[in-house]
Amino acid sequence: MRKSIIAGNWKMNKNIEEAMLFANEIKDSSFSKEVEAVICAPFMALYPLQSVFKDTTVKLGAQNMHYKDNGAYTGEISASMLKDAGITYVILGHSERRQYFGETDEIVNEKVKKALEKELIPILCVGETLEEREASKEKEVIAQQVQKALVGISEEEMKRVVIAYEPVWAIGTGKTATSEQANEIIAFIRMQVKELFGEVSQDISILYGGSVKPENIFDIMAQSDIDGALVGGAALKPESFVKLVNYKE
Ligand code: PGA
Repeated sequence: MRKSIIAGNWKMNKNIEEAMLFANEIKDSSFSKEVEAVICAPFMALYPLQSVFKDTTVKLGAQNMHYKDNGAYTGEISASMLKDAGITYVILGHSERRQYFGETDEIVNEKVKKALEKELIPILCVGETLEEREASKEKEVIAQQVQKALVGISEEEMKRVVIAYEPVWAIGTGKTATSEQANEIIAFIRMQVKELFGEVSQDISILYGGSVKPENIFDIMAQSDIDGALVGGAALKPESFVKLVNYKE
């Protein structure tokens, strides 16, 4: 059985007070037991959030980390630091990191390896730009991103990797890929993983991301290969986040 995951990606939003308000508002909600609810908050808010959610099923995630253990890397946060703060997940290779901060597939690969070594669950993001889709290159681009990000990972480790397909043209634009388009690419990603790692491909969770909201989550989740969603804008409001997690009700 593949795990269903709804992960909110707050990006660079919410200070500690705002994060705590959100957390206190949702911590007593009855969340669907079939879905893992994850909040990926800014670093500053993660530790205080941990104390609010510690007796709940809500898991926390970071939005980035460095691949070195420690040392002279001004401004960076290590996997062990996240682990120490009680964090479970870490988003890696988000398109905004690739686009604005120069993250290459090779860097993303180093990060995925380090996250796995430190027992964090990486949410590896892949996705094509509008230009690439218009040139019908989406599969080529995604196959490359998947292969390069997973170099040097064992089959056993692969079981713990979550992948998120986020077409860049659908992020924060209100343009969602149709559920069928998303499903087609996610099935393609699963096939890539199968070629590299064999049958574990059937057990890993692959999420869709890009303008997911309570209004379209049901259709997205109804697709055969989609196991969850990585949600930006619509995960910033408590009631909307709870609705997304409880999309079946
Ligand atoms: P969005 O962002 O839901 O606001 O489109 C998704 C993401 O970037 O993870």
